[in-house]
Amino acid sequence: MERIQIVEVGPRDGWQNLKQMLTFEEKLSIIDGIIKSGVTEIEVTSFVSPKAIPQMADAAQLAAACIEKYPDVKFWALAPNFRGVENAWNAGVRHVSYVISVSETHNRANIRRTHDESFAELAKILETYPDLEISVGMATSLGCPFEGIPSKEKVLDFCQRLYDAGVRSMYLADTIGIADPKQVRELTKAVLERFSDCDWQVHIHDTRGMGLVNTLAAIECGITRVQSTLGGLGGCPFAPGASGNTATEDLVYMLERMGYETGIDFNRLLEVSKFQKSFVDGIYSGHQMNIKTEQPPCC
Ligand code: COA
Ligand code: ZN
Repeated sequence: MERIQIVEVGPRDGWQNLKQMLTFEEKLSIIDGIIKSGVTEIEVTSFVSPKAIPQMADAAQLAAACIEKYPDVKFWALAPNFRGVENAWNAGVRHVSYVISVSETHNRANIRRTHDESFAELAKILETYPDLEISVGMATSLGCPFEGIPSKEKVLDFCQRLYDAGVRSMYLADTIGIADPKQVRELTKAVLERFSDCDWQVHIHDTRGMGLVNTLAAIECGITRVQSTLGGLGGCPFAPGASGNTATEDLVYMLERMGYETGIDFNRLLEVSKFQKSFVDGIYSGHQMNIKTEQPPCC
């Protein structure tokens, strides 16, 4: 059976867009459930300006608590600049998603930096923290609300720039859920072929109901690490039109049925998703959580 590693990014992507402020204890109770259902990699928060994303103001406290409580779980945190990485490192985080948008317009809207500024900070981060695992999230690599769909050549040039800077872990992100499976297939094949010595992931939003099919398209081209969010919450507050991510429980259901191994107990995860929905007010793109009847025996 082929193993697919799911990286749960709900505590970051899922919660960053909520109006409701979750308490530290509420966050921990959901994260506890996610881990008990078998998830082994979680993006637990982001080290960003609390003025930009107030929901993440407890980043250091939450990351430190999770790392201490679950030493066997790999906790990631997102950071958009050197300051964020520094704060993450000081909180004990050793796996960081550093985000740059392929679209410079979105990079300015989201991170308030030009490409050159983001790359300059990346170089400083790589030099200062050689023991930190860094995966670079290429936001808008499958479509941008301001610049449209980037050409394959543009994305490959961007990857090359990252590769030349020393990055060996990257992910394609469909920030506004606009891609189609053919596009995902072509881009995934191209990056895997040209940058075959890198670790690759995908981060696919479900805005237009294409989350599962686009994630599967990437998997069928050879991607074995995929990001998703509990319940399908999510969206970048600085990308107009962005909404829910691919729901982790829906993804687990599909993959396990197809014979892939995720290591995650679908029924337990579904309960956690319903638990989250019982007190977290948001827009959920997940389907499984809305099924009112008992699952038939074939599930
Ligand atoms: N963590 C906490 N605070 C930070 C920070 C970080 N990583 N980076 C900057 N700040 C603080 C600064 O101290 C400053 O605070 P002050 O106003 O109290 O002096 C303020 O944020 C502005 O700092 P500056 O360097 O001028 O940043 P900026 O205004 O250009 O903002 C970002 C840049 C990236 C920090 C900010 O836009 C941000 O956090 N955006 C969130 C992006 C995001 O999470 N998007 C969704 C996920 S991809
Ligand atoms: Zn996202």
